[in-house]
Amino acid sequence: MGDDVGGTCGRERKGRGMIAVVGSANMDVVTEVVRMPHPGETVAGRALRHYPGGKGANQAVAAARVGGSVSFYGKVGRDAYGERLLDAMRADGVDVAGVEIAPDAATGTASIWVEDTGENAIACVPGANGAVDRAYVDRVLARIAGARVLLLQLEIPLETIGYLLDRLPRERPLVVLDPAPARDISRLRLSRIDVLTPNETELHSLTGISDTARAARSLLADGVRTVVCKAGERGAFCFGVATYHVPPFHVQVVDTTAAGDAFNGALAVALADRPLEQAIRFANAAGALATTKPGAQPSLPWRAEVEGLLALEKRA
Ligand SMILES: Nc1ncnc2c1ncn2[C@@H]1O[C@H](COP(=O)(O)OP(=O)(O)OP(=O)(O)O)[C@@H](O)[C@H]1O
Ligand SMILES: [Mg+2]
Repeated sequence: MGDDVGGTCGRERKGRGMIAVVGSANMDVVTEVVRMPHPGETVAGRALRHYPGGKGANQAVAAARVGGSVSFYGKVGRDAYGERLLDAMRADGVDVAGVEIAPDAATGTASIWVEDTGENAIACVPGANGAVDRAYVDRVLARIAGARVLLLQLEIPLETIGYLLDRLPRERPLVVLDPAPARDISRLRLSRIDVLTPNETELHSLTGISDTARAARSLLADGVRTVVCKAGERGAFCFGVATYHVPPFHVQVVDTTAAGDAFNGALAVALADRPLEQAIRFANAAGALATTKPGAQPSLPWRAEVEGLLALEKRA
């Protein structure tokens, strides 16, 4: 599989362009405060806001907005947050028919405190995301296996990701894995990861190697087919059959939240119809655009915006 990542990405599949995301959905509950309370102290908050999030859901929405036909697989709790998360994905055209309600867990949450200074503190409760288990994979595997691209992150149990990679049939989707948050992936079947998309911090913590190129090469030696390192304002670096830099798009940065999710969703979509280097360019454009607006899902760009930025660079 790996060698054709640089080409057309190989096999014709039914449901061309279909992307399966197996991952997390969280409600981000943001409390705005003048300053953080000390332990035992009460402070007045300015506002409480709810934002749909979770890397899985964000990347599913990111892929749908740039034109992918996307199915999201994961779990939410039987509660209002769960319903709101599914509604948010549906509003972006993401198919959530494969999502299950975890009977004994609440919808995943990230409780975020934001000070006027911009300083924040976050507590994540995985809840239903932690219940995405082997039995669930068994129930949805046939549908996932028929996708063109399978997009994964590490906000569901690592054990489940390992099982899913093992269970994929030989005639499988192209696998793109965002190793975020960084966890020890050495026990996964790395040869089943066609494109690994760490940022530089993750790359270093995955390998214990501080030099980016050396760290990427050690993952390749361990079996990963291609490493695409997201490098923020420097664009991206590709290590695989070929090694090259894909330059960034210059934009007015407002908030970099979810740039990585925009990049991954766009990469998954673009891999279905263009060579890897061009797919990374498309993903760079999506990532750059996500930095021009505040927030996570609200900042994820639509296809026309990405194509507009690509066309602009071509003319320049
Ligand atoms: N300041 C920027 N200017 C231009 N492009 C950017 C900028 N920041 C991010 N991007 C684009 O978005 C991509 C993903 O951003 P980044 O490298 O920050 O990923 P990340 O660290 O995984 O982000 P996240 O924290 O959202 O997961 C980059 O590879 C780049 O193409
Ligand atoms: Mg990231």
